[in-house]
Amino acid sequence: MKSKISWVCQECGYESAKFLGKCPECGEWNTLREFKIQSSKIKTSEFAISQKDKTKTAKKISEISYLEKNRISTGFAEADGVLGGGMVPGSVTLLAGDPGIGKSTLLLQIALNLSSSKLKTRQAHIENDALKDAEVAYKNFRVHNAEKVSFSKKKAGGANVHSENFESFPHPVLYISGEESEEQIKMRAQRIGGGNNENLYIASLNDTDRACEIIGELMSSFVIVDSIQTMESEKLSGLSGSVGQVRYGGMAFIKTAKTLNIPTVLVGHVTKEGMVAGPMVLSHMVDTLLFFEGEKFTQTRILRSLKNRFGPVDEVGIFKMDEKGLSEVKDIESLFITEGNSKTPGSVLTVTMEGTRPFLVEIQALCVFSKLPIPRRVASGIDSRRLELLIAVLQKQAKLPIETMDIFVNIAGGLKLSDPASDLAVCLSIFSSFKNLPLWGLVAVSEVGLLGELRNTSFFEKRVKEAQKMGFKKILSAKSHRSLQAVLKDLI
Ligand code: TYD
Ligand code: MG
Repeated sequence: MKSKISWVCQECGYESAKFLGKCPECGEWNTLREFKIQSSKIKTSEFAISQKDKTKTAKKISEISYLEKNRISTGFAEADGVLGGGMVPGSVTLLAGDPGIGKSTLLLQIALNLSSSKLKTRQAHIENDALKDAEVAYKNFRVHNAEKVSFSKKKAGGANVHSENFESFPHPVLYISGEESEEQIKMRAQRIGGGNNENLYIASLNDTDRACEIIGELMSSFVIVDSIQTMESEKLSGLSGSVGQVRYGGMAFIKTAKTLNIPTVLVGHVTKEGMVAGPMVLSHMVDTLLFFEGEKFTQTRILRSLKNRFGPVDEVGIFKMDEKGLSEVKDIESLFITEGNSKTPGSVLTVTMEGTRPFLVEIQALCVFSKLPIPRRVASGIDSRRLELLIAVLQKQAKLPIETMDIFVNIAGGLKLSDPASDLAVCLSIFSSFKNLPLWGLVAVSEVGLLGELRNTSFFEKRVKEAQKMGFKKILSAKSHRSLQAVLKDLI
């Protein structure tokens, strides 16, 4: 058996036939590691479930049946929205996030939703008018299952998926964990109220090939692999988490998912740089890349899609983590606005966009006389360089004498804003704190230029509507004023 030696960059996944000190792809030094790949074994046909490629033929586009309604609801409208209306059968999603942020919890909850009969009513969440009715959704669900069962018998060109045995609702779900023991997962399931589910199967193992076999044996409707970094195969050298193993695992699970038409979610931990650890390669291989983010010390969790072959990108779903797991947040504002701030100076509202969704956020600022030769400027939730720039504009263009002040700016609720439309609100919150002038009730939506000019922002109408919906009528923007100076003049 011939084995091939290949050098793989641990940072970006670049592959080279010989050793290189510096990776030509990402420019990092000393990141290439040697991998021995036994070439005859790594062939994709050797995966646990082989695809009969020889039976494949080309089809006319008109003959290809595509049923949008086959999407499967996760049981969370927030997550379905991010996915573009639910999970697509056979799709592979990479769920990335910091360790401890709640990825396993989210997936276990989705698994419980899917495998319990609760879904029968929750199915109606699918964002498709035809599916608003739970009855219809239930039928479609059965169609999906029929397709799965008859898949192995189906030959190319056959679109007849409505015929066979589909009476297996609710669906079995398989949760493969390389991180936690079966007992630990059971404990977590009990904590979130689903420890006795008959349809949820847990497999605690690290072996990629065996995991693929189990998927094939169980023919479940949904598979979770938690996490891809803990899975390894004997077919190639390298420890779990190495680029080779992760890539092999990714390929094996993707192949299995596509062959059996089972939607699969792979969990990936992110490194401190915010990349999906080591194997960025996976993000190119999967259909959908989701990030689950939030600060560990706040309850808010945001599910964001960065790549989606079946739906929009930049959509977000908002969740709250408490003692009983994650729950969806419908009135987002309650998380980001502090009640009872109406009389306190230093607080100004803005409307930010997360994907295509507007919501109100409170920006808080504190200005105090500094005892330091170089006053402090502390930004949390916004870029600190942006804050420096806005302070400079306030000093120079609006003649606000704040050069001797320590300035602290914070976004309530632990949110991170990179939306330039929050510029004006940041300026006004500093002004409000400096002048001791409460500005609660104002909503400021505008980018501020270096000359203090106000600029139009994207989705302006949507933002205004959101503010009005929440009962805020006074909106400051490029439509109402030409410059920051003009706004401040009006406020005094
Ligand atoms: P987890 O899902 O294990 O994170 P990940 O898989 O992304 O590493 O989440 C672990 C954290 O969530 C842990 O700090 C405890 C907290 N948690 C709750 O607050 N409530 C709950 O109901 C559960 C199950 C976990
Ligand atoms: Mg986990």
